[in-house]
Amino acid sequence: MSTGPLVVLVGPMGSGKSTVGALLAERLGAPYRDTDADIVAAEGRPISDIFIEDGEPHFRALERAAVSAALAEHPGVLALGGGAVLDDDTRALLAAHPVVYLSMDVDEAVKRVGLNTARPLLAVNPRRQWRELMEARRHLYTEVARAVVATDERTPEEVAQAVLDALELKDA
Ligand code: S3P
Repeated sequence: MSTGPLVVLVGPMGSGKSTVGALLAERLGAPYRDTDADIVAAEGRPISDIFIEDGEPHFRALERAAVSAALAEHPGVLALGGGAVLDDDTRALLAAHPVVYLSMDVDEAVKRVGLNTARPLLAVNPRRQWRELMEARRHLYTEVARAVVATDERTPEEVAQAVLDALELKDA
């Protein structure tokens, strides 16, 4: 029987979930999976197109199903999209898993993702949008997380090490 992912990464856009997740997978000798990539592969179109063509609620329904499938079947490192924690059912599922919240402050966020139009939620006035998103979500990330790792002024390698330390995981 699968015991689920070794690590589940949550946090806002640009907090480094994909980069850190891939490094963690390498260190743990485990596969890496990303629910945004699962959705894009299943739909055959980018997330920005799903938002524009079918709206955010449709994307969230696809995301809920993608997260639930990945939690049930993926044995390695799993990164979730930044808004996955908005869903009540997803948060209930996450309670049984080793979830780490990668946090960062607004200046760092704008530096990293402010001009990236692939992220539809930050397309206009990224600083304000990001602040509003975090006001709505910070408590949800904290609620589902067993550990919080700050990413500001840390390299991806340092963040990956902090995640391993927080969950008391050892290299493969
Ligand atoms: C979103 C974050 C994105 C992606 C979508 C919505 C959000 O994922 O799922 O654009 O609501 O924060 P990343 O956090 O991987 O960028």
